[in-house]
Amino acid sequence: MASDLTVIVLAAGGGTRMKSKTAKVLHEIGGRSMVGHVLSAVGALEPAKVVAVVGHQREQVGPHIRAVMPDAVLAVQAEQQGTGHAVRIAVEAAGTSSGTVLVVYGDTPLLEGRTLRAFAQEHHAAECAVSVLSGVVEDPFGYGRIVRNEEGDVEAIVEERDASPLQRDIREIGSGIFAFDGEFLADVLPRIGNDNAKGEYYLTDTVGLAREAGLTVGAFPIEDVIQTEGANDRVQLAHLGRELNRRIVDQWMRDGVTVMDPATTWIESDVRLAPDVVLLPNTQLLGATVVAEDAVVGPDTTLKDCEVGAGARVVRVHGELAVVAEGASVGPYSYLRPGTELGTGGKIGTFVETKNAHIGAGAKVPHLSYVGDATIGEHTNIGAGTIFANYDGTHKHHTTVGKGAKTGANNTFVAPVSIGDGAMTGGGAVVRRDVPPGNLAVSGGPQRNLERRVPRDPGPASTGDGPIGDGESAEGES
Ligand code: UD1
Ligand code: CA
Repeated sequence: MASDLTVIVLAAGGGTRMKSKTAKVLHEIGGRSMVGHVLSAVGALEPAKVVAVVGHQREQVGPHIRAVMPDAVLAVQAEQQGTGHAVRIAVEAAGTSSGTVLVVYGDTPLLEGRTLRAFAQEHHAAECAVSVLSGVVEDPFGYGRIVRNEEGDVEAIVEERDASPLQRDIREIGSGIFAFDGEFLADVLPRIGNDNAKGEYYLTDTVGLAREAGLTVGAFPIEDVIQTEGANDRVQLAHLGRELNRRIVDQWMRDGVTVMDPATTWIESDVRLAPDVVLLPNTQLLGATVVAEDAVVGPDTTLKDCEVGAGARVVRVHGELAVVAEGASVGPYSYLRPGTELGTGGKIGTFVETKNAHIGAGAKVPHLSYVGDATIGEHTNIGAGTIFANYDGTHKHHTTVGKGAKTGANNTFVAPVSIGDGAMTGGGAVVRRDVPPGNLAVSGGPQRNLERRVPRDPGPASTGDGPIGDGESAEGES
């Protein structure tokens, strides 16, 4: 089937109700644009040719489609004169009229490849000139109605504005998704007129024209109607986004992932999870995030394009482009910025921010620290409150801490600087020069305890009256 299949994606419409500078079909749910979801469903059919019709905001939509599906042919519909007109332009651009032609819309993000495949098979099995994917809905307002005769055969599709009161009561609607015999399509397109309420060339008119020619027409109802629903405004976008997420989360649970609270768990389309991953409430896994088995993520965690190793624990974390190896532990309250790599069994702890930081296996940055542009060796422990001062106001510099080092609390490492294997630093050290392996680095003068000259007034009003800290007694440090 695939070898003679052409798919036309209609994406020329305006999308006024989005009230957005971004083209409608580029609005995202589940980490992909709406048209990106449609192209993914279309791609699953491995069609010989995909033609996308672009019009409104085509300077945005065209390059996006090219990026998602480089082989797609772009056809420009400068003026939106209707779906029939759009398909005519697409068929001209495709330059072929043989085989099967599927028509889909670019704004139906829940559409699945297997739905399209089953529809195309029904179309072939019934040997139809044209088939429409239909659906039975509670409120058919605004849709084209499927008009059937007493035998139940499809006679025509009538648009809302052109329908008689009796036809308006029909609850079977056309989804807009069509399958055509290519030769019939090429023949019928020039014969579609625009003598209707909107003055547009309706693709739906092909159904009546096929019937008049005595050809077989099919309407195949889909139960899962939401797959054919488009988002015209942001309320519908959020509705479809929630439903897409529900489907993704359900699928992962069926594949062996424990999700404690599906309603507050968001998993985008390209995320990959292993069995026995546990996701705790309020977790968002975005982009190309991958989580290996037995890892526990959450609660209150957002990971975008991150890799979490087997059995790792990630609690209340915001991370992007970070790698957390097997058995490592992150959080609570950590900010993993791009280029963070935490080794096996390592730890990035509470109120720690990391960026371009390679933290070796078993190494720990447990508390209140900033680690930027750094390499930390295996089994090194970084003291609480350490700042890797990587920025001199103009350039960023690198800090290296060797293996098995133990640095004191409240240190500042002024990059570029290197601390050797097994070295130690004293509390409060400001490390400006390299520390050789095994050495202990201390900085700052010795502690001086100064006797107070004035008897201390124990009352609260005395704050700041004493000599300590008022500068009088400072002798200057060497
Ligand atoms: C269309 C169908 C209707 C169906 C409904 C399902 C027609 C005449 N009507 O109505 O039977 O029930 O979809 O949602 O086909 N587009 C173009 N170029 C155009 C016009 C439209 O690319 O000149 C694209 C739009 O971007 C959109 C799609 O085609 O993605 C549907 O167009 P729209 O005008 O929204 O059709 P409806 O009135 O919703
Ligand atoms: Ca529409």
